[in-house]
Amino acid sequence: KREDAPKPRKEFDDLISTLPLNQDWIPIRLRKYQDFWIPEHSLPEVMAMQQNFQARLDDLFVLSYPKSGTTWLKALAFAIMTRTRYSMADHPLLRSTPHDFVVCIDRFFSGGRPSKLEAMPSPRMLSSHLPYPLLPDSMKGAGGRFLYVCREPKDVFVSRWHFNDKMRPDSVEPIPFGKAFDLYCDGVSPYGSIWEHARGYWGESLRRPEKVFFLKYEEMLEEPAGSAKKLADFMGCPFSPEEEKEGVVEEITRLCSFDSLSKLAGSMPRKLNTKLPLQTTSFFRKGEAGDWRNHMSEEMARRMDAVTSQKLEGSGLTF
Ligand code: A3P
Repeated sequence: KREDAPKPRKEFDDLISTLPLNQDWIPIRLRKYQDFWIPEHSLPEVMAMQQNFQARLDDLFVLSYPKSGTTWLKALAFAIMTRTRYSMADHPLLRSTPHDFVVCIDRFFSGGRPSKLEAMPSPRMLSSHLPYPLLPDSMKGAGGRFLYVCREPKDVFVSRWHFNDKMRPDSVEPIPFGKAFDLYCDGVSPYGSIWEHARGYWGESLRRPEKVFFLKYEEMLEEPAGSAKKLADFMGCPFSPEEEKEGVVEEITRLCSFDSLSKLAGSMPRKLNTKLPLQTTSFFRKGEAGDWRNHMSEEMARRMDAVTSQKLEGSGLTF
């Protein structure tokens, strides 16, 4: 049985304790693993997943650097995929967060639950924040298709800083904005360098456009209905002309909009079932493009833009 296969947890823990450590993003401790800074608390599961996860041909994966719009993309993909099953008046997203329907793969590898993954009916919808090089081989091969969302790096940084601040225990001082900025520019933030992360998936989307669909948060904000239609096309369940005429696309984008999801989150049980002190509402703050202007100096913005140009040079990816 596959759940017998993972290495004993102790072996992972021993290896993890030897990896370079960063403790600035309290309460998240980071370890440098295969060139990316990964939250320590998820590493044993990540390692077990790398060794054991078997992707299926019809799996659909929502992939992202954290704070890039993962929650939104999960909601959209789930609502699009299941639209003939549920009515808008009694939709599962009215009662539970998108993270309950598109679950992070490594979470199945905590406490020997990989059999639940096996038991999931196809097509499975799963997610991961892992950078492309760290994915299990079966995902990099023929198994499954990827939806990847990226976002302007300055806005991701501002979102990350606030997200971390919400998780901070009262007894701990917030990580100074300038220090967090320097770390982020050096790639020392959860899931590593945003530029390497995006570059990895961008490269794959060029090499294998039938496997990787690359979305930008800002384009989704500008054109929610257009983005939903492109998503549905890629997922193999395009909206029919009748559905478009009946306004199904708009119903779905309205349900998954920031206003709708953030309001719904406010009426759900507060605590999320994760190892971090997160609440259902933690994934919603402003939901805008360009909020970096309210938090960063011109000098900081110029510095980060320079990092972006340098790191993405020659890739064809721009923000
Ligand atoms: P801000 O902190 O800038 O507001 P993730 O889901 O990857 O953790 O990303 C969280 C970011 O996406 C937060 O950004 C959050 O407000 C924003 N967000 C969440 N749901 C959204 C939605 N439906 N539409 C637009 N933005 C959304």
